[in-house]
Amino acid sequence: MLTGELVRLRALEPADSEALWRWYHDPEVGRWMGSDPPISLAQNMEKGQNRPRNTYELMQLGIETLQDQTFIGYVVLGDTDFVHGEAVLQSVAIGERDFRGGGYGTDAVRVISRYTFEEMGLHRLMLWVVADNAAAVRAYRKVGFVEEGRRREAFRSRGKRYDYLMMGLLEGELR
Ligand SMILES: CC(C)(COP(=O)(O)OP(=O)(O)OC[C@H]1O[C@@H](n2cnc3c(N)ncnc32)[C@H](O)[C@@H]1OP(=O)(O)O)[C@@H](O)C(=O)NCCC(=O)NCCS
Repeated sequence: MLTGELVRLRALEPADSEALWRWYHDPEVGRWMGSDPPISLAQNMEKGQNRPRNTYELMQLGIETLQDQTFIGYVVLGDTDFVHGEAVLQSVAIGERDFRGGGYGTDAVRVISRYTFEEMGLHRLMLWVVADNAAAVRAYRKVGFVEEGRRREAFRSRGKRYDYLMMGLLEGELR
């Protein structure tokens, strides 16, 4: 269920902490996701040891290549509302630079979307994305997400302000 054409999604392991720490400090990852103050590798290792178990309400999954199980990124799904059948795709990142632009992000979004509809029985998936994040917007559109709203100038990065797009995907629209 969590396997696509290029990637497989799986629980994060403590051994993933070093890569996650590197990506956390990568300006290209932080650019459109908001940057937090630096943390030490030791602090990130501790976080990796004490990560809460995944639930349907909050799921953090690693993205690894199908070809050779290289750990290349992560997705986070949260704010699940089973009454109305909606969850939020909180983040998606291909942390390993060499793997960006290779179709892995699109495949990971497709896999987690299919999981929310088919396994969790939800009806809608939504997300917020910075309007100028061309790769992310394109990846979401390819999977079937459509623009549902816009928070004007709600995101600040490197001294500039950008709009946030709200995008949504209904069960049955997944491509
Ligand atoms: C956004 C991200 C997850 C997309 O994953 P990816 O594997 O790099 O993207 P894909 O290879 O699946 O490409 C998706 C589409 O975007 C296009 N694209 C890729 N990089 C692009 C860029 N820099 N500018 C414009 N389009 C780009 C691709 O060509 C593809 O479209 P196409 O199939 O029509 O050619 C990834 O680039 C990433 O992790 N970025 C940094 C973190 C981030 O911004 N996350 C999203 C937060 S909402």
